[in-house]
Amino acid sequence: MYGARIIVVKDEQTVGKWAADVFEQVISRKPDCLLGLATGTTPLTLYRELVRRYHRQMLDFSGIHTVNLDEYVGMPPENHQSYRYFMEKNLFQQININPKNTHLLNGLAGDAKSECRAYDRLIDELGGIDLQLLGIGQNGHIGFNEPSDNFYLQTHEVTLTEETRRANARLFAEDEIVPSQALTMGCGYIFAARKILLLAIGSGKAKILQRALFGQVTPQVPASLLQLHPDVTIIADEAAGRLLPECATESVS
Ligand code: F6R
Repeated sequence: MYGARIIVVKDEQTVGKWAADVFEQVISRKPDCLLGLATGTTPLTLYRELVRRYHRQMLDFSGIHTVNLDEYVGMPPENHQSYRYFMEKNLFQQININPKNTHLLNGLAGDAKSECRAYDRLIDELGGIDLQLLGIGQNGHIGFNEPSDNFYLQTHEVTLTEETRRANARLFAEDEIVPSQALTMGCGYIFAARKILLLAIGSGKAKILQRALFGQVTPQVPASLLQLHPDVTIIADEAAGRLLPECATESVS
């Protein structure tokens, strides 16, 4: 791995604290920065910690802009399964961010291609992403860039793999349909972020984390692209980090 810091901490709560430190550093250096955000289970302890630090006046989000990685196609923002809903509930409504500065792809856009082009333009106009937060799928996806023959550089529409739909199904009720299409930021825009922070929690992520960080760089494991990025921090709990070579990791408590 070139330019990466790999930190293994004891548990999920500690992942959130270390990740919040990275956010705090970036925000204090650039109070009007552009943050790339993620949804899913992984960032929950981080978002809780950011809210806590905001209430303690350690963080000010008034100048911050955000772009999220992805959104389900056909999902209205008010639906509790939408990523917009997730972000409002877990972060935006609990901090002093200007709602106008929070951007997610519109899953209801009639013309998905123009929606995607406009999203890339927006990121360009906002000066590019200063810090991109990522989780990792069990198949190595980042955002919803699924294993494929190419790295898709731009924001685009994807068909989710059965594996990803099964993984996402745990968050849906039995009578709810797990979407099969999504819009996702492309690997190019993720890679162009000035700093990348990838979090991994739980033993289910151990194998893929090892493969992504120490295996071949290939679009079959989209997260492997991070091996080439000059400024990546990976924070894993012990369960997710258990297969990583000790010599390449910092273990902290
Ligand atoms: C979410 C996203 C996905 C998740 C990944 C891991 O916005 O882009 O790549 O980060 O699927 O999901 P969790 O955290 O639920 O294991």
